[in-house]
Amino acid sequence: MEVAVVFGGRSGEHDVSCASAAGVVTHLDRERYAVRPVRITAAGEWVVGPRALPAGTYGVADLVRLTPAADVPAWQSLTEAAPALGTADMVLPALHGPYGEDGTVQGLLEVLGVPYVGNGVAASAVAMDKDVTKRLLAASGLPVAASALLCGPDCALPPDEQQRLGLPAFVKPARAGSSLGVSRVERWEELDAAVALARESDSKVLVEEAVLGREVDIAVLEHPDGRLEAGPPLEIRVGGGQRFFDYEAKYQDAATRFEIPARLDEGITAELQRLAMGVFETLGCAGLIRVDFFLRGGTEPVVNEVNTFPGFTAASQYPQIFEVAGLSYGDLLDVLIATALV
Ligand code: DAL
Ligand code: MG
Repeated sequence: MEVAVVFGGRSGEHDVSCASAAGVVTHLDRERYAVRPVRITAAGEWVVGPRALPAGTYGVADLVRLTPAADVPAWQSLTEAAPALGTADMVLPALHGPYGEDGTVQGLLEVLGVPYVGNGVAASAVAMDKDVTKRLLAASGLPVAASALLCGPDCALPPDEQQRLGLPAFVKPARAGSSLGVSRVERWEELDAAVALARESDSKVLVEEAVLGREVDIAVLEHPDGRLEAGPPLEIRVGGGQRFFDYEAKYQDAATRFEIPARLDEGITAELQRLAMGVFETLGCAGLIRVDFFLRGGTEPVVNEVNTFPGFTAASQYPQIFEVAGLSYGDLLDVLIATALV
């Protein structure tokens, strides 16, 4: 079976996507899959690499070398890349953020009529937008943090809203990932600068109450028979110097640690898993999601965000969680592909 692995993309998470793809390409079983890399450059050019990469360990530099935008002008447009996608047996969009994890590429794949791993157009689009996600989850009785939406040129937050949300507060672009553009605000005087930073990623900005408590991720995997499996909880432990699990803590700080399974009461673990599967059902997800929670006061789960294609390097939460659950990275990819073929 030929699997096209699409990676890179125009979002701020371009580099993270390249690292995820390197993990995927390394771990796809070459006895079962002929792997073809398809890179979307940061400028949005589509570059198709060679068919059937040999088995081996691939890094980001290898994938970039195999998809040389400058040297293969024939492949520098989506129009010309589309046939390579449309004739693959399966596409694995290892993309994070807007223009990839938000339903846009999924829509293209639907139009091409090619099966693809993971979430469809609607779930991807909804989950990319933290404001829309919150509204849908809250309407289904799922716990989310209080927030206010700032749209348009005005970035003022009325005093009653400031009082409702309290300090510290988090300011976030509604549609971005990897904590890009996110600030923790300790005083309302810091709000304007925080909103300006968030607006560099998105015109739609959320101001959220800070939920103070442990940060725990739950990975949900859909099996080909439709059964949902929630993996063991993963607790994020950020090094002492970090104010929250920001981009640096995520990708650059060696002091960041994941504890799997997190040390939690059985009852809380079961509740987190139940809620994560509730998120999957509510948003109409397919294949996989990772739901990131805070435990308010140590016991009360609050959904922080939903990732429809979570980080997929070998050291990322999702593959690590299932490794602990007894599913190797390669077997996990087999399940995702088998489910996408149903
Ligand atoms: N958005 C990044 C990739 C994650 O949540 O894992
Ligand atoms: Mg997160």
